[in-house]
Amino acid sequence: MSLQAPRGTQDILPDRTPRWQFVETRFREVLARYGYGEIRTPMFEPTELFQRGVGTSTDIVQKEMYTFQDRKGRSLTLRPEGTAAVARAVVEHKLLATGQPQKMWYLGPMFRYERPQAGRYRQHSQVGAELLGVESPAGDFEMIALFVDLLDAVGLRQTRVLLNSVGDATCRPAFTETLRTYLRAHLSELCPDCVRRTEENPLRVLDCKVPGCREVARGIPRIQDHLCPACRAHQDELRTLLDRAEIPFEMADHLVRGLDYYTRTVFEVEHGGLGAQSAVGGGGRYDRLIEDVGGPSTPGVGFSSGVERILLALEAEGAALPGALTPEIMLVTVGEGEERREAMRLARRLRRRFRVDLDLRGRGLAAQMKAADRAGATLALLIGEGELAAREWTLKTLATGAQERVPDRELETRLLAMLSQDKGRE
Ligand code: HAM
Repeated sequence: MSLQAPRGTQDILPDRTPRWQFVETRFREVLARYGYGEIRTPMFEPTELFQRGVGTSTDIVQKEMYTFQDRKGRSLTLRPEGTAAVARAVVEHKLLATGQPQKMWYLGPMFRYERPQAGRYRQHSQVGAELLGVESPAGDFEMIALFVDLLDAVGLRQTRVLLNSVGDATCRPAFTETLRTYLRAHLSELCPDCVRRTEENPLRVLDCKVPGCREVARGIPRIQDHLCPACRAHQDELRTLLDRAEIPFEMADHLVRGLDYYTRTVFEVEHGGLGAQSAVGGGGRYDRLIEDVGGPSTPGVGFSSGVERILLALEAEGAALPGALTPEIMLVTVGEGEERREAMRLARRLRRRFRVDLDLRGRGLAAQMKAADRAGATLALLIGEGELAAREWTLKTLATGAQERVPDRELETRLLAMLSQDKGRE
């Protein structure tokens, strides 16, 4: 039996990697303009980090982690998300003592044991950013603006920004109690998980996808009606900032996000072309997380976005995405032996400046010319007996069939001139 990639994972083959490189390049440009530095943390962390950071009553920690023991019996987990890992690294390296705010971004694979479907995988890639040390709504604003600008930079259009608040240590406990009282009156309509969540963490009922629970959630008390004055003022100022910058958003009562570290602001960006997994990404404020992983009390806010979903959304919009780069020059040998040796030498020389390809399997002239066309090359450089003897090369523009001879010492200059006329050269 032949082996296959694990369920819920995918190979990104060379014909599709240019799409990834395109979005990654755009992300890097925008993140640099915002002044964020890249952080790379390990793919696995102590399991306890996610229990403490993400929260033991979340689906991620209860059902979705790839947890294993190493040979010394330590419990490790493939990272299901990036924020807790960034918090751990910042505390471990005492970065908060070196200056605040700390502004960081990351891009890489995350692992969640979820039921795979379109837009949902067991290994997915996230681009994310975290801003540590900013308590004011300016931080929330910067994160939403950055997220919107990242999506804009890759050309995504049909997005909606959803906004809510989940309150803080002042108002959430009372709201949680109100929610619990409401849910206790509907226990018979809830799924077994939500019956448990009612006692453990009633906010999580709002995430449940089971139809009965969604029905109950429809009549649930609104957190917006229970925010304390400080949370309300924080939200009002954020809304003012978004309005001022003309970033459209909608308030979403039921948005609580599936991770426990959030305080106050939560947001998500949705895309209509994604079907059931409609969130391109999400984030929010997490003013307790740094403390929860053992650091000094420090506010934080951030977001992350699934790169696969960004690409799916772009494809749903019919966006023009780059394909594999074509060779600029195809070396074509007319004869055997010396011509082929010369082609190898010349290819290496020209590859310092140009995208060059050549036949490595000893095929004949006709097959080489066909390959040049099929590869989408701009020029063919012909190497025959006459060219070798005269130390000059025949350049053929494949689109027109026009040919010219160029002395060896002028080759690079002439190629640059010819290729710069060609739109394809970047
Ligand atoms: P999250 O909402 O769990 O948040 O994940 C962020 C995004 O990653 C989702 O909106 C989605 O686009 C993508 N994603 C998540 N799971 C999958 C999956 N199984 N398959 C494909 N894509 C997926 C977080 O992870 C937080 N760390 C975000 C954050 C950063 N909050 C503050 N800072």
